[in-house]
Amino acid sequence: MKVALVLSLALIGVASAARAEVPPARQGELRDFVSQDCGSCHGMTRNGGLGSPLTVQAMRELGDEALVATILDGRPGTPMPPWRGLLTEPEAQWIVKHLKGDVP
Ligand code: HEC
Repeated sequence: MKVALVLSLALIGVASAARAEVPPARQGELRDFVSQDCGSCHGMTRNGGLGSPLTVQAMRELGDEALVATILDGRPGTPMPPWRGLLTEPEAQWIVKHLKGDVP
């Protein structure tokens, strides 16, 4: 009984730590999303189009928090839309790492 309780508490701990992480299957979806949806304005190769270039080099010059904010809230007065309804904050953080080339 006691062992089961300790075990389930440990599992709850693992589950809540994992909540901030983006599961591998979702990472795959986000990769496609970035190349297709973001790519429609920023270019399939991210070299820019209607939107500015999102190359690794360009992204590395910008801070993570500013990039996450731009992705979640867009740039009012420009065509860059807010993505908050479609992406969670951990997902936007993952996209920033992906754009910076820190995760494949
Ligand atoms: C409808 C077109 C459009 C789509 C779709 C779009 N963007 Fe943008 N984005 C823009 C434009 C235009 C700008 C430049 C805004 C400005 O003038 O400041 C921009 C700016 C940005 C910037 C800031 C770049 C910098 O150098 O400061 C980031 C980061 C960004 N977009 C990421 C994304 C991501 C990630 C997606 C997909 C989730 C996305 N964008 C989808 C049009 C778009």
